[in-house]
Amino acid sequence: MSNSGDGSMTGVDVTECTRCADLVESRSRIVNGVGPETADLCFVGEAPGAQEDAEGEPFVGRSGDVLDEALRDAGLSRADVRITNCVRCRPPDNRDPTATELEHCKGYLVQELEQVDPEILVTLGKVPAEHLLERDVAITSEAGDVVEATIGDRRQRILLSVHPAATLYDRSQRDPFEETIERAASLAGEDVGDQSRIGEF
Ligand code: URA
Repeated sequence: MSNSGDGSMTGVDVTECTRCADLVESRSRIVNGVGPETADLCFVGEAPGAQEDAEGEPFVGRSGDVLDEALRDAGLSRADVRITNCVRCRPPDNRDPTATELEHCKGYLVQELEQVDPEILVTLGKVPAEHLLERDVAITSEAGDVVEATIGDRRQRILLSVHPAATLYDRSQRDPFEETIERAASLAGEDVGDQSRIGEF
């Protein structure tokens, strides 16, 4: 359990937080990550939307349907992977989280990632990519790239992806999105394979 004045975590879950006045007002609950706390593959989105706020789980609306379908096509299920967001409370009118809100929530994400320690982290959209890489990202041209970044005290391999919602606005994003999720599955799978081969010697 860690405490930081106006927010506290138990394990990978934020149990209470009042750091962002607008978000405390607009949320009906804090939406924590879901999935195994030892997952090799972790997806990081932007912030919960209306459906996520109502159900208390990330990516359960239309974007989540797109993500679930791509995972299925790649031979994975939602239960195999960790899914979380940069910001855990729904922003009003579905606006982007502000830089301050992202910063307020960053320690929670860092603690979650430290615990899960994924082989591959997939950023879904421009906001999480720029937040975690701490630079501008041209997401449509950089999607599919694998980069490394320091998050907290860890080095993390990151696969950049467009946001699943982008495929709903622009059908031409569908194939690249699905290819990126397939790439994520095979990168995570390779690591599992390497580890089991090491055990043979
Ligand atoms: N979009 C996100 O970035 N995160 C969610 O949880 C849902 C939609």
